[in-house]
Parts: sequence; C-alpha cells; structure tokens
Amino acid sequence: MLAVQATSLSPSDPLQGLTIGEHPDPQPRDGWVVVTPKVTSLNHHDLWSLRGVGLSADQLPRILGCDAAGLDPDGNEVVVHPIVTSTGWQGPEPLDPRRTLLSEGVDGTFAERLLVPASNLVPKPADLPWEVAAVAPVAWLTAYRMLFTQAGVRPGDLVLVQGSGGGVNSAAIQLASAAGIRVFATSRDAARRDRALALGAERVFEAGARLPEKVDAVIDNVGAATWSHSINVLRPGGTLVTCGATSGDAPTRAELTKVFFRELRVQGSTAGTREELTDLLRFMAHHRIEPVIDTVLPLSQARTGFARLLAGEAFGKIVFTH
Ligand SMILES: NC(=O)c1ccc[n+]([C@@H]2O[C@H](COP(=O)([O-])OP(=O)(O)OC[C@H]3O[C@@H](n4cnc5c(N)ncnc54)[C@H](OP(=O)(O)O)[C@@H]3O)[C@@H](O)[C@H]2O)c1
Repeated sequence: MLAVQATSLSPSDPLQGLTIGEHPDPQPRDGWVVVTPKVTSLNHHDLWSLRGVGLSADQLPRILGCDAAGLDPDGNEVVVHPIVTSTGWQGPEPLDPRRTLLSEGVDGTFAERLLVPASNLVPKPADLPWEVAAVAPVAWLTAYRMLFTQAGVRPGDLVLVQGSGGGVNSAAIQLASAAGIRVFATSRDAARRDRALALGAERVFEAGARLPEKVDAVIDNVGAATWSHSINVLRPGGTLVTCGATSGDAPTRAELTKVFFRELRVQGSTAGTREELTDLLRFMAHHRIEPVIDTVLPLSQARTGFARLLAGEAFGKIVFTH
C-alpha cells in the first residue's frame, strides 16, 4: 500500500528522511481493527518525528501521521483517537505513562490502511465534513483540552493565543471565539494577524507587544520565544497552558518570581482524551465550525505539504486525501 514514511532521521534536515512509497499492509492483531482513512492531516509533530524527536532509528521505517477520519471494517464513519494506551489503562489517556502516539510506537495514519485499537475509534457525526473530522484528533483536540479542561476558561474570560497561523493556534482562536471567550492573538506577520481577526480574535498584536489588559489564560506552544511574554500578560491567579516548544524549550528566563508572587499556574497539556474528542466533534458539528484549511493534497503529494509546514508558510491545516 502507499504510505508516507520516515526512513531516516535528521534534526537539521527533516525532509531528507521523508519517503513516499510502498509499505507492507498491516497484519491483523487481537483487539485492533483496520481503518481505511479518507482524509488525514499534517501536524508539526510529523516534522518533529523526522527530526528524531519521539522517534528513534531502531523504529524505522515508521509510517507518519497522527490524524485520521475514515471507515471502519463495517463501513462506519469514524474518527481515530491518536493516543494508544497500555493494556489495562483506565484513566485519562494523556496521563498513561506508557502511552504512545500513532506514528511513534506504532504506525501512523498516512497510508491506505491503518491498524488501530478498536477502542480508539470515535463515531464521526454524520453532518461533519471529512476535512473537519480529519483535523480534530490532534490540533483541535489539543486546543480544546487546553482551553476548556486545563485553563478552564468560561464565556466572557479573556485568553491570549501566542501565534495565529498554526494548527493548534488557529483552532484555539476559533474554538474560544465560538464558546463566547474573548481572544487576543499575536503573530509575527501582519497578514496572519488580519486572518486571526477574521477567525474571531477581538484584537491582534505583534509578537511580544504590550497588551491593553491582563488576560485570564495564555495558550502557548511557541515556547522559549514567547515564555516571558506569556507570564507577563497574565492577571494574578491566571493560567499559562503550554503544549509545545516550537522555538525551543529553554527560555532565557524561567520567571519564577512572577510565577509565585502573582500565584500563576503553569499547566502542561498533551492532546486530549477520547471523551474530549467526542465532545469536540459534537461541538464542531453543532457550531458548524469551518477549520481553516491551508492546502488539500492527495497523499501521493504529501512532500509538498511537509515542505510548506516546515517553511512556516501554512495558515491553518494541511490535509491529505486518500
Ligand atoms: N502536546 C501536544 O499534544 C501537542 C499537540 C499539538 C501540537 N503540539 C506542539 O505545538 C506546536 C505547534 O504545533 P502546530 O502543529 O500547531 O504547529 P504549526 O502549525 O507549525 O504552528 C506553529 C505556530 O507557532 C507560532 N510561532 C510564533 N512564534 C514562533 C517562533 N518564534 N518560531 C516558530 N513558530 C512560532 C506560529 O505563529 P505565527 O506564524 O502566526 O507567528 C504558529 O502559530 C508544535 O511544537 C507541536 O509539536 C503539541
């Protein structure tokens, strides 16, 4: 079958190990089912994998991709929850210390057929378009958990989203705005700031700009480049939710004095639970949310999408049709 794979790893040149070609079909496994993906979507995570973050040379070749919506063996429309928990795990999936993610410990979604635990399948609401369902499991689920579970923001609260064009960040702007939460957003680029306004941000700012008021929560996955700003803009008792470190994980200052003196909360977040994915899909269908889709490509042309994401050119999600 056709598959998009990591065949070697390079921290400095991630596209070097990207191979699009034939891969053996998945072998049957007890409790696991074969899903036929219809639409999948690209995440920054796939670039991290090619750089060797979360993936090691002894795991290659590995099929990439964490997001998928498709058909189960009975022809039901399903969305795939991307976290594979260890046998017998009962709690929230992101808290399983022995969990893995599709495309890390097991093959991912960028293939004609995908083997996943049957328990990872969530029904796709019938009226939810395939492209919308396919962006939900990683970027949108991550944004959903960050906002509503980890930050616990309510309608009328004010949130700052650091960065505008990314998959998680554009999702956070759209989700928060649909839920009646006020959104400030930053971007390094003027055109992207304008697009954030169109997505529902109340006001937009250059990266690092002084804000006219303190915020209740910050959604941050940029990391080192935005850390101090994220701490500084929080009201006393506010919450910084971090799910990534695109610009590096070692900020110049830890800002510990501000964290304790203003009683700030720093909350990590990773993906989301299967239950949250079900809730998110219902939320998206109910509000008829149209995620920003940057590019739609056939799976065979996935390299173009990877290059676009690597160059930081994408605004919204890059999706692959199968
Ligand atoms: N923990 C989890 O479960 C989880 C889930 C999803 C993603 N993540 C992580 O979150 C990060 C974002 O993922 P994504 O898929 O949304 O990535 P993406 O689409 O590549 O988005 C990158 C974002 O970073 C912003 N950014 C601002 N300053 C930056 C800087 N100095 N350098 C680079 N980017 C900067 C960009 O905003 P502007 O271009 O508008 O400035 C853009 O919004 C990644 O590190 C990813 O690994 C973690």
